[in-house]
Order: sequence, then C-alpha cells, then structure tokens
Amino acid sequence: MKSRLDESGNQIGVSGSGSKIRANFSLSSSYDIIFEERMLDPEVDTLASMIGGRKCMFILSPRVTELYHDLLHSYLQHWLEPAMFSIVTLPVTEETKTFETAMKMCSVAAEFGLDRKSLFVAMGGGVLMDTVGFAASVYMRRINFLRIPTTLVGQIDAGVGIKTGVNFGDRKNFIGSFHAPAGVINDSTFLRTLDPREISNGLSEMVKIAVVSDRGLFDMLHDSRHSLLSSYRSADGRELVRKINFRSSERMIEQLSDNPYEKELERLVDFGHTFSPFMEVQSGHRIRHGHAVALDIALSTEISSVLGLISDSFYGEIMELLEDIGFTLYDAEVFDAHRMYQSLDSITLRRGGRLNLVLPRGDGGATFLRDLSEFRLSTLKSSILRLKERYMEDGYDGDASSCG
Ligand SMILES: NC(=O)c1ccc[n+]([C@@H]2O[C@H](COP(=O)([O-])OP(=O)(O)OC[C@H]3O[C@@H](n4cnc5c(N)ncnc54)[C@H](O)[C@@H]3O)[C@@H](O)[C@H]2O)c1
Ligand SMILES: [Zn+2]
Repeated sequence: MKSRLDESGNQIGVSGSGSKIRANFSLSSSYDIIFEERMLDPEVDTLASMIGGRKCMFILSPRVTELYHDLLHSYLQHWLEPAMFSIVTLPVTEETKTFETAMKMCSVAAEFGLDRKSLFVAMGGGVLMDTVGFAASVYMRRINFLRIPTTLVGQIDAGVGIKTGVNFGDRKNFIGSFHAPAGVINDSTFLRTLDPREISNGLSEMVKIAVVSDRGLFDMLHDSRHSLLSSYRSADGRELVRKINFRSSERMIEQLSDNPYEKELERLVDFGHTFSPFMEVQSGHRIRHGHAVALDIALSTEISSVLGLISDSFYGEIMELLEDIGFTLYDAEVFDAHRMYQSLDSITLRRGGRLNLVLPRGDGGATFLRDLSEFRLSTLKSSILRLKERYMEDGYDGDASSCG
C-alpha cells in the first residue's frame, strides 16, 4: 500500500505515477488543553502524565521562579528521577524575546542533553512561551514542548494555538514557526499572583474573542464587569473564572483550528491586532501587548461608529467593558494618525496585500474592511479625535500607563 488515510482522513504516503510522485505528509496536530486547579500538588498526576517519563527542561522567567520554583521542584522530585529534569530561569521580556534568547535556550538544552525524545516545558507568560516554543521548533529540527501558561493572556490566547515566535528588530513576532505543543495545562490559581494590570491585559484578548464570535460570552463579561478583576485574584471568583476562561479558549480554538497555518488571511481573531503592533513598538513596549489590544479594540470600535457600522448600544457596551476592566482608551504618545496610518503598510504586507481590518458591527459580530484604499486617513483622524475628546473631557491628561 503506497498511500493511506491518517486518523484525520488526510491522504498520506505516496501517490502519482509516471514522471510524478506526490509526497503526502500528515501534518495534522491535536493536543489537550487541560484545566487543572492543583497542578503542582504532588497528589495530582496531570503534569507527570503529560511528561510521560521523558527527560524535560523547564524554562521559567525570574518572577515565576520566585513564586513557584520550590513547589515545582518538589513536584518534579516526587515524580521524576533527578537526572530527568532541570529547571532553568531565563529573563525573557518583550525586548529579549529574540532569536538570540531562543538560541540560548537551545544551548542550555544541549548542555543538559535533551534529545529528540525529550521535552521543553515553558512555564510563564506569552513572551516566554512564544520563545520556548520557537526554540523547541528548531532544536534538533523540532522536539516536543509543553506549555504551562501562568498569565491570563497565556491561558486564553498565547497558550491555545500553534504559533511560536520572536521579535525581529522593530517587527513583532516576525520570526517564528507553527509548532503545536504536546499539551497545555491551564491552572487558574497561578493567576492570583498576577499584577491586576496583567489581568486587564488578558481580559482585553477575551473581549476580542467575545465581540467577534460569542455574544453570550460578551454579555457574561459585560454583566460581571465590576467584579471581573477581583474574581481572578481570589478563590471566591473561581466559578466565574473557570467558566469564562474555558468558553473563550473554546472560541479561540474554533477560530484557529480550521486555519492553523493562516493561509486564510481574513481572520476574526485579528480584531484588536491591526494598530496594536504599532502601539507596542512606538511606545518602546511601555504599552504591553494586551493593553495595546484594548486600545486597538477601542479605536476599531470608534472607526466602526464613524462609518455607521455598529449600533449605539453595542458601541457603548464595548467601551464600558474596556473601561471597567481597567483601561483608559486614549494614549497621546501613540495616537498619532499619520504614523499609525503609515504603519498599516506593514500589516497589509503580512496580510497578503489586504488590510483586513476587523470592525465590530451591528449588535454583535464583526465585519472586515478589506482594502487599505477603502480606509481613509480622515476616518482614522476623526476616530482618534473622538476618543481624545472623550478622555480629555474626563480630565484625562494623556498618561494611559495608569490603567489597571
Ligand atoms: N503565540 C500566540 O498565538 C500569541 C497570542 C497572544 C499573545 N502572544 C504573545 O504573548 C506575549 C504577551 O504575553 P503576556 O501578556 O502573558 O506577558 P508576559 O509573558 O510578558 O508576562 C507578563 C509578566 O507577568 C509575569 N508573570 C507571569 N506569570 C505570573 C504569575 N503567575 N504571577 C505573577 N507574575 C507572573 C511575567 O514574569 C511577566 O513579567 C506577547 O509577546 C504576544 O505577542 C502570542
Ligand atoms: Zn494578542
């Protein structure tokens, strides 16, 4: 038999005849995202069974080491021989989310003797996970890795899909790969030690997915907007957190799974991600990813209102929700219409020559503004002006870093 169907029904093996051989490789991937609230309890075998006796190198950022190293170490000692694991701490921030840092991870892994059957394990925020995932995708051509996201952005967004990446000069996530993790464990108790600002940053990604794909989730967020931040920081909020984290992860996977390699460049999950790369870079990363997404969502919503695409009530609810989860929706340094408009060239390049700006519409859902030529600088200018007036009227002086 030269060719057969794999478990997902794709043809694999060899087909064709005469002067052509078609090579059909199986590229499907599936993995479990497990929601577990006692991950580091030695009585709980979730992590141990994901490791499955393989040699593994955990990579943590300094803050995660400070908070969780000892618990992790006791857990691993309980389940694995000492020679089978190591815990490495590496400072990975947006500035050091680079190829060099990924190569440093590879060299530490080589020193520790990881081979093709071993595992990288990323335990930390999205920055660390993206970098570790990239290192794993090139180490010995590709080895498996696990993700243990410890931020909200990590648990509901960066940890869910198959993208890895590092920054390249001024270009965010410009170098990267598609490399599915072997598994993901989401333990929401990690989120209790997060700075409230990091919770806000994660919630902005959740607002993104809710607006474009799930009106019910949006209503849930809107209804609980006054208690959302505190729910993440105490055991009392457990039920709500479990419900909304699970539901938004499901929506994310739905959006990503039929377009894993982003061949389709009209993506609803790009909502909040058109102006945000410019804001992150322009502010020298003072404005962090989730915060930039919130500002982008607000700006896109304002654009939608200027263009008459959104109902007044949906417009009001989106803005209200973003404000109540801790954001001031204007930033004097980066809301520069000309420069922001110029930055759309590089977004358009990435999206195959199309702008594909995602705009919320009606009472829920979204639409695309596809061509840059249909999007006028004057529309951007008046949208920015409306946001500015709104926040200046509130006595706001332009320092958005007070959010959260
Ligand atoms: N690959 C993807 O599909 C994808 C999707 C969304 C975002 N991202 C990327 O994710 C990154 C943003 O990730 P992030 O928002 O998680 O930021 P981050 O990784 O910088 O983490 C934020 C901060 O929280 C600290 N921290 C982590 N866990 C903690 C905990 N439990 N308690 C206390 N402090 C903790 C970290 O050390 C860090 O200082 C961006 O680089 C973005 O490009 C990737
Ligand atoms: Zn994002």
